[in-house]
Amino acid sequence: MKILVIGSGGREHALVWKLAQSPHVTQMWCAPGNAGIAQERLAKNSSPVECVNLGAEDLPGLLAFAQEKKIALTVVGPDNPLALGIVDLFQSHGLKIWGVNQKAAQFESSKVFSQKFMEKYGIPTAAAGTFSDATAAKKFCASLGGRCVVKADGLALGKGVLICANQAEAEKAVDEIMVSKAFGTAGANVVVQEFLEGIEVSLHALCDGKNAKIFPTSQDHKRALDGDLGLNTGGMGTYSPTPFLTDAQLADTARQVLEPFMRGCVAEGIDYRGLLYPGVMLTKAGPKILEFNARFGDPETQVYLTRLENDLVELLDASASGTLAQHELKWKPEASVCVVMASGGYPGNYPKEKLITGLDAANALPHTKVFHAGTALKDSQIVTNGGRVLGVTALGKDLRAAQAAAYAAVEKIHFDGAHFRRDIAAKAL
Ligand code: AMP
Ligand code: GLY
Repeated sequence: MKILVIGSGGREHALVWKLAQSPHVTQMWCAPGNAGIAQERLAKNSSPVECVNLGAEDLPGLLAFAQEKKIALTVVGPDNPLALGIVDLFQSHGLKIWGVNQKAAQFESSKVFSQKFMEKYGIPTAAAGTFSDATAAKKFCASLGGRCVVKADGLALGKGVLICANQAEAEKAVDEIMVSKAFGTAGANVVVQEFLEGIEVSLHALCDGKNAKIFPTSQDHKRALDGDLGLNTGGMGTYSPTPFLTDAQLADTARQVLEPFMRGCVAEGIDYRGLLYPGVMLTKAGPKILEFNARFGDPETQVYLTRLENDLVELLDASASGTLAQHELKWKPEASVCVVMASGGYPGNYPKEKLITGLDAANALPHTKVFHAGTALKDSQIVTNGGRVLGVTALGKDLRAAQAAAYAAVEKIHFDGAHFRRDIAAKAL
């Protein structure tokens, strides 16, 4: 079977790596991919995975490519092509594709949509209001004592969420989003949520329109610096499982969130087939959903797929076909830790084309896999090509062992200005 994976980050490298292990796969392409993805080979016949020079948002180009190559299953990594309707487009041409359709992608592309849905179907979330009028939004912030979170409705490159400590900050945030339009049209509407205190964890569930299968827990580290200081990033490292939810608490959370979610989707005519990634705050009053993403997390995917025992082709095919009920997710008992190595300066400006050394030595360590995020090939050498460069991932018998193994691999890798956190998974130990 021929597979096309769309995207170019660490998440997509992890997807390609895991899909390539399936005996079902005879040929694989990735658009546009990266230098690490181009080094992967298929388990079945040792064919190399080929990177294709098509952007993840070039929907007509991707469709033409899939038709020409007679791709049996396309797998979409990032949120943008989903929000643009790539799934609907491929399906209307009779092509099988894994990922959520445009209607379902609204859970990520519109915070107002998600918030209203959660309230309508009784999914535990922050006390919140949704507003198209700045004065009304500010009044609601005041009713929360000014301690609140103001969120631009639309996709704002992960930047449209402003955390406010008092009413003055809240009014400034509302003005920035709604009046100055700092995030463009994404700010025509806002969600204002009460500020929740607690531990934040990532949940993932694979859905097939009727069933949702929950993954184990994981936790991301979103701030750039140790101790959760510095600027917000796409994610500086993850580990799985987290000790903050027991198996029983996870099952209970899944019941509180996934059951009403799937029921609500059916009621609203949303055929949710793909990945649901709720961001959850574990508060004293129980778990509360902060937001929904409609795709795999990055770098959550790196720790999940190193633990997953199932054939990923079979799972994604079942998710797209509505037959997940026949599958049971199986996970390695080992813990997994992923440490992101970023370019110096990230998430601000950073240089590119820095030579990366030590990748082979790191990959040669046992139970270790270096996933590439922002890398490229230049004069047959691997160089940096993005903010997040690598996701150095290792399994261990427990979190401490996995953490030690991941950092041992990080020590082998060098590039000018490399920046990484030294405390990934430390909270759990
Ligand atoms: P979001 O994109 O909505 O997940 O928000 C980005 C980040 O802001 C989250 O990962 C949280 O760390 C923080 N955040 C969002 N909503 C809240 C909230 N209601 N209370 C506290 N922190 C929040
Ligand atoms: N891990 C953060 C994200 O994928 O949005």
